[in-house]
Amino acid sequence: MIEFKDVTKVYEDGTEAIKGINLTIPKGKLVALIGPSGCGKTTTMKMINKLISPSSGTILINGKDTSDTDEVELRRNIGYVIQRIGLLPHMTIEENISLIPRLKGWKKEQYEGRVDELLNLVGLDPKVYRKRYPLELSGGQQQRVGVIRALAAEPPIILMDEPFSALDPISREQLQDELKSIQNTIHKTIVFVTHDIDEALKIADEIAVMRDGKIEQIATPAELIKDPANEFVRAFIGEDRLNVQQHQKCVFDIMDENTTYLLLEESEYSSIPYDASIQEAARILLKSEKHYLMVTKDGRNVGSVTANGILRAVASEGKKEERSV
Ligand SMILES: Nc1ncnc2c1ncn2[C@@H]1O[C@H](COP(=O)(O)OP(=O)(O)O)[C@@H](O)[C@H]1O
Ligand SMILES: [Mg+2]
Repeated sequence: MIEFKDVTKVYEDGTEAIKGINLTIPKGKLVALIGPSGCGKTTTMKMINKLISPSSGTILINGKDTSDTDEVELRRNIGYVIQRIGLLPHMTIEENISLIPRLKGWKKEQYEGRVDELLNLVGLDPKVYRKRYPLELSGGQQQRVGVIRALAAEPPIILMDEPFSALDPISREQLQDELKSIQNTIHKTIVFVTHDIDEALKIADEIAVMRDGKIEQIATPAELIKDPANEFVRAFIGEDRLNVQQHQKCVFDIMDENTTYLLLEESEYSSIPYDASIQEAARILLKSEKHYLMVTKDGRNVGSVTANGILRAVASEGKKEERSV
């Protein structure tokens, strides 16, 4: 667990970067710090591993004040991933990943196995990539190595500062998915800085929205969308997103509860779960070339929708989205 208690940071030139924050990052959770550029995300993160020291207040890790902890020791126990990768160009992938384990005195047999395990975790074949140099990898592959390098020595805490923001949208989404699935097995305490609300909503257990050196709201993604604390948070989440989330219909909302389907031959329809989106329903209809979809819930047929009904619903959702843009 990481705790910030009344923490402020004033830089030497007088910039008040952090104006008193209180924040608890629970063990095993992924907490995203989000906010516009210059609001203090990086400063907050770097105070955790003492790359920056607070001007006042305390930061505790598992109850221990970090100002009493040796910084070299602290950093070896905290993984760190930054936007511009930071792999060492003259070291192979294997040497990069095993750097911290080697500094911590792991034996060759120990870290070799670990390197292979981690490469496999992000879909890079160790036989192909172990001996390559960073520049022989694509940006997305290098960033994957950056992420697993931070995991290599099994630190309980990992700090990630906009780790995916230099990537193309596809690699970015893939890495978000991979991070989520890795986190589901390793359950580390992760602090993840981003300025991308979609990224935060997708991967975080909790989101701290920052503005101008302060925290405006800390909430789960669902709470944040349901109940933004103020206009700033609301605007930051985006009016569209709030509308879309509230109004997105599922097939249950548009289905016909009557028993039309009892008259149908099985060859005339496909089935769809009641909570599927109408867009999904449209895709299934187009693919199956049927005129009806049977709506199922808990293995029972609960209603039906016609192709026309779905097309109408898709069209009206489309109009709503146009209006909210
Ligand atoms: N070394 C520094 N000296 C003076 N001001 C700084 C320094 N680093 C950051 N700042 C200022 O502190 C504020 C917060 O910066 P930062 O934590 O990097 O924000 P973010 O990561 O949210 O973009 C900004 O106004 C920035 O210009
Ligand atoms: Mg930053």
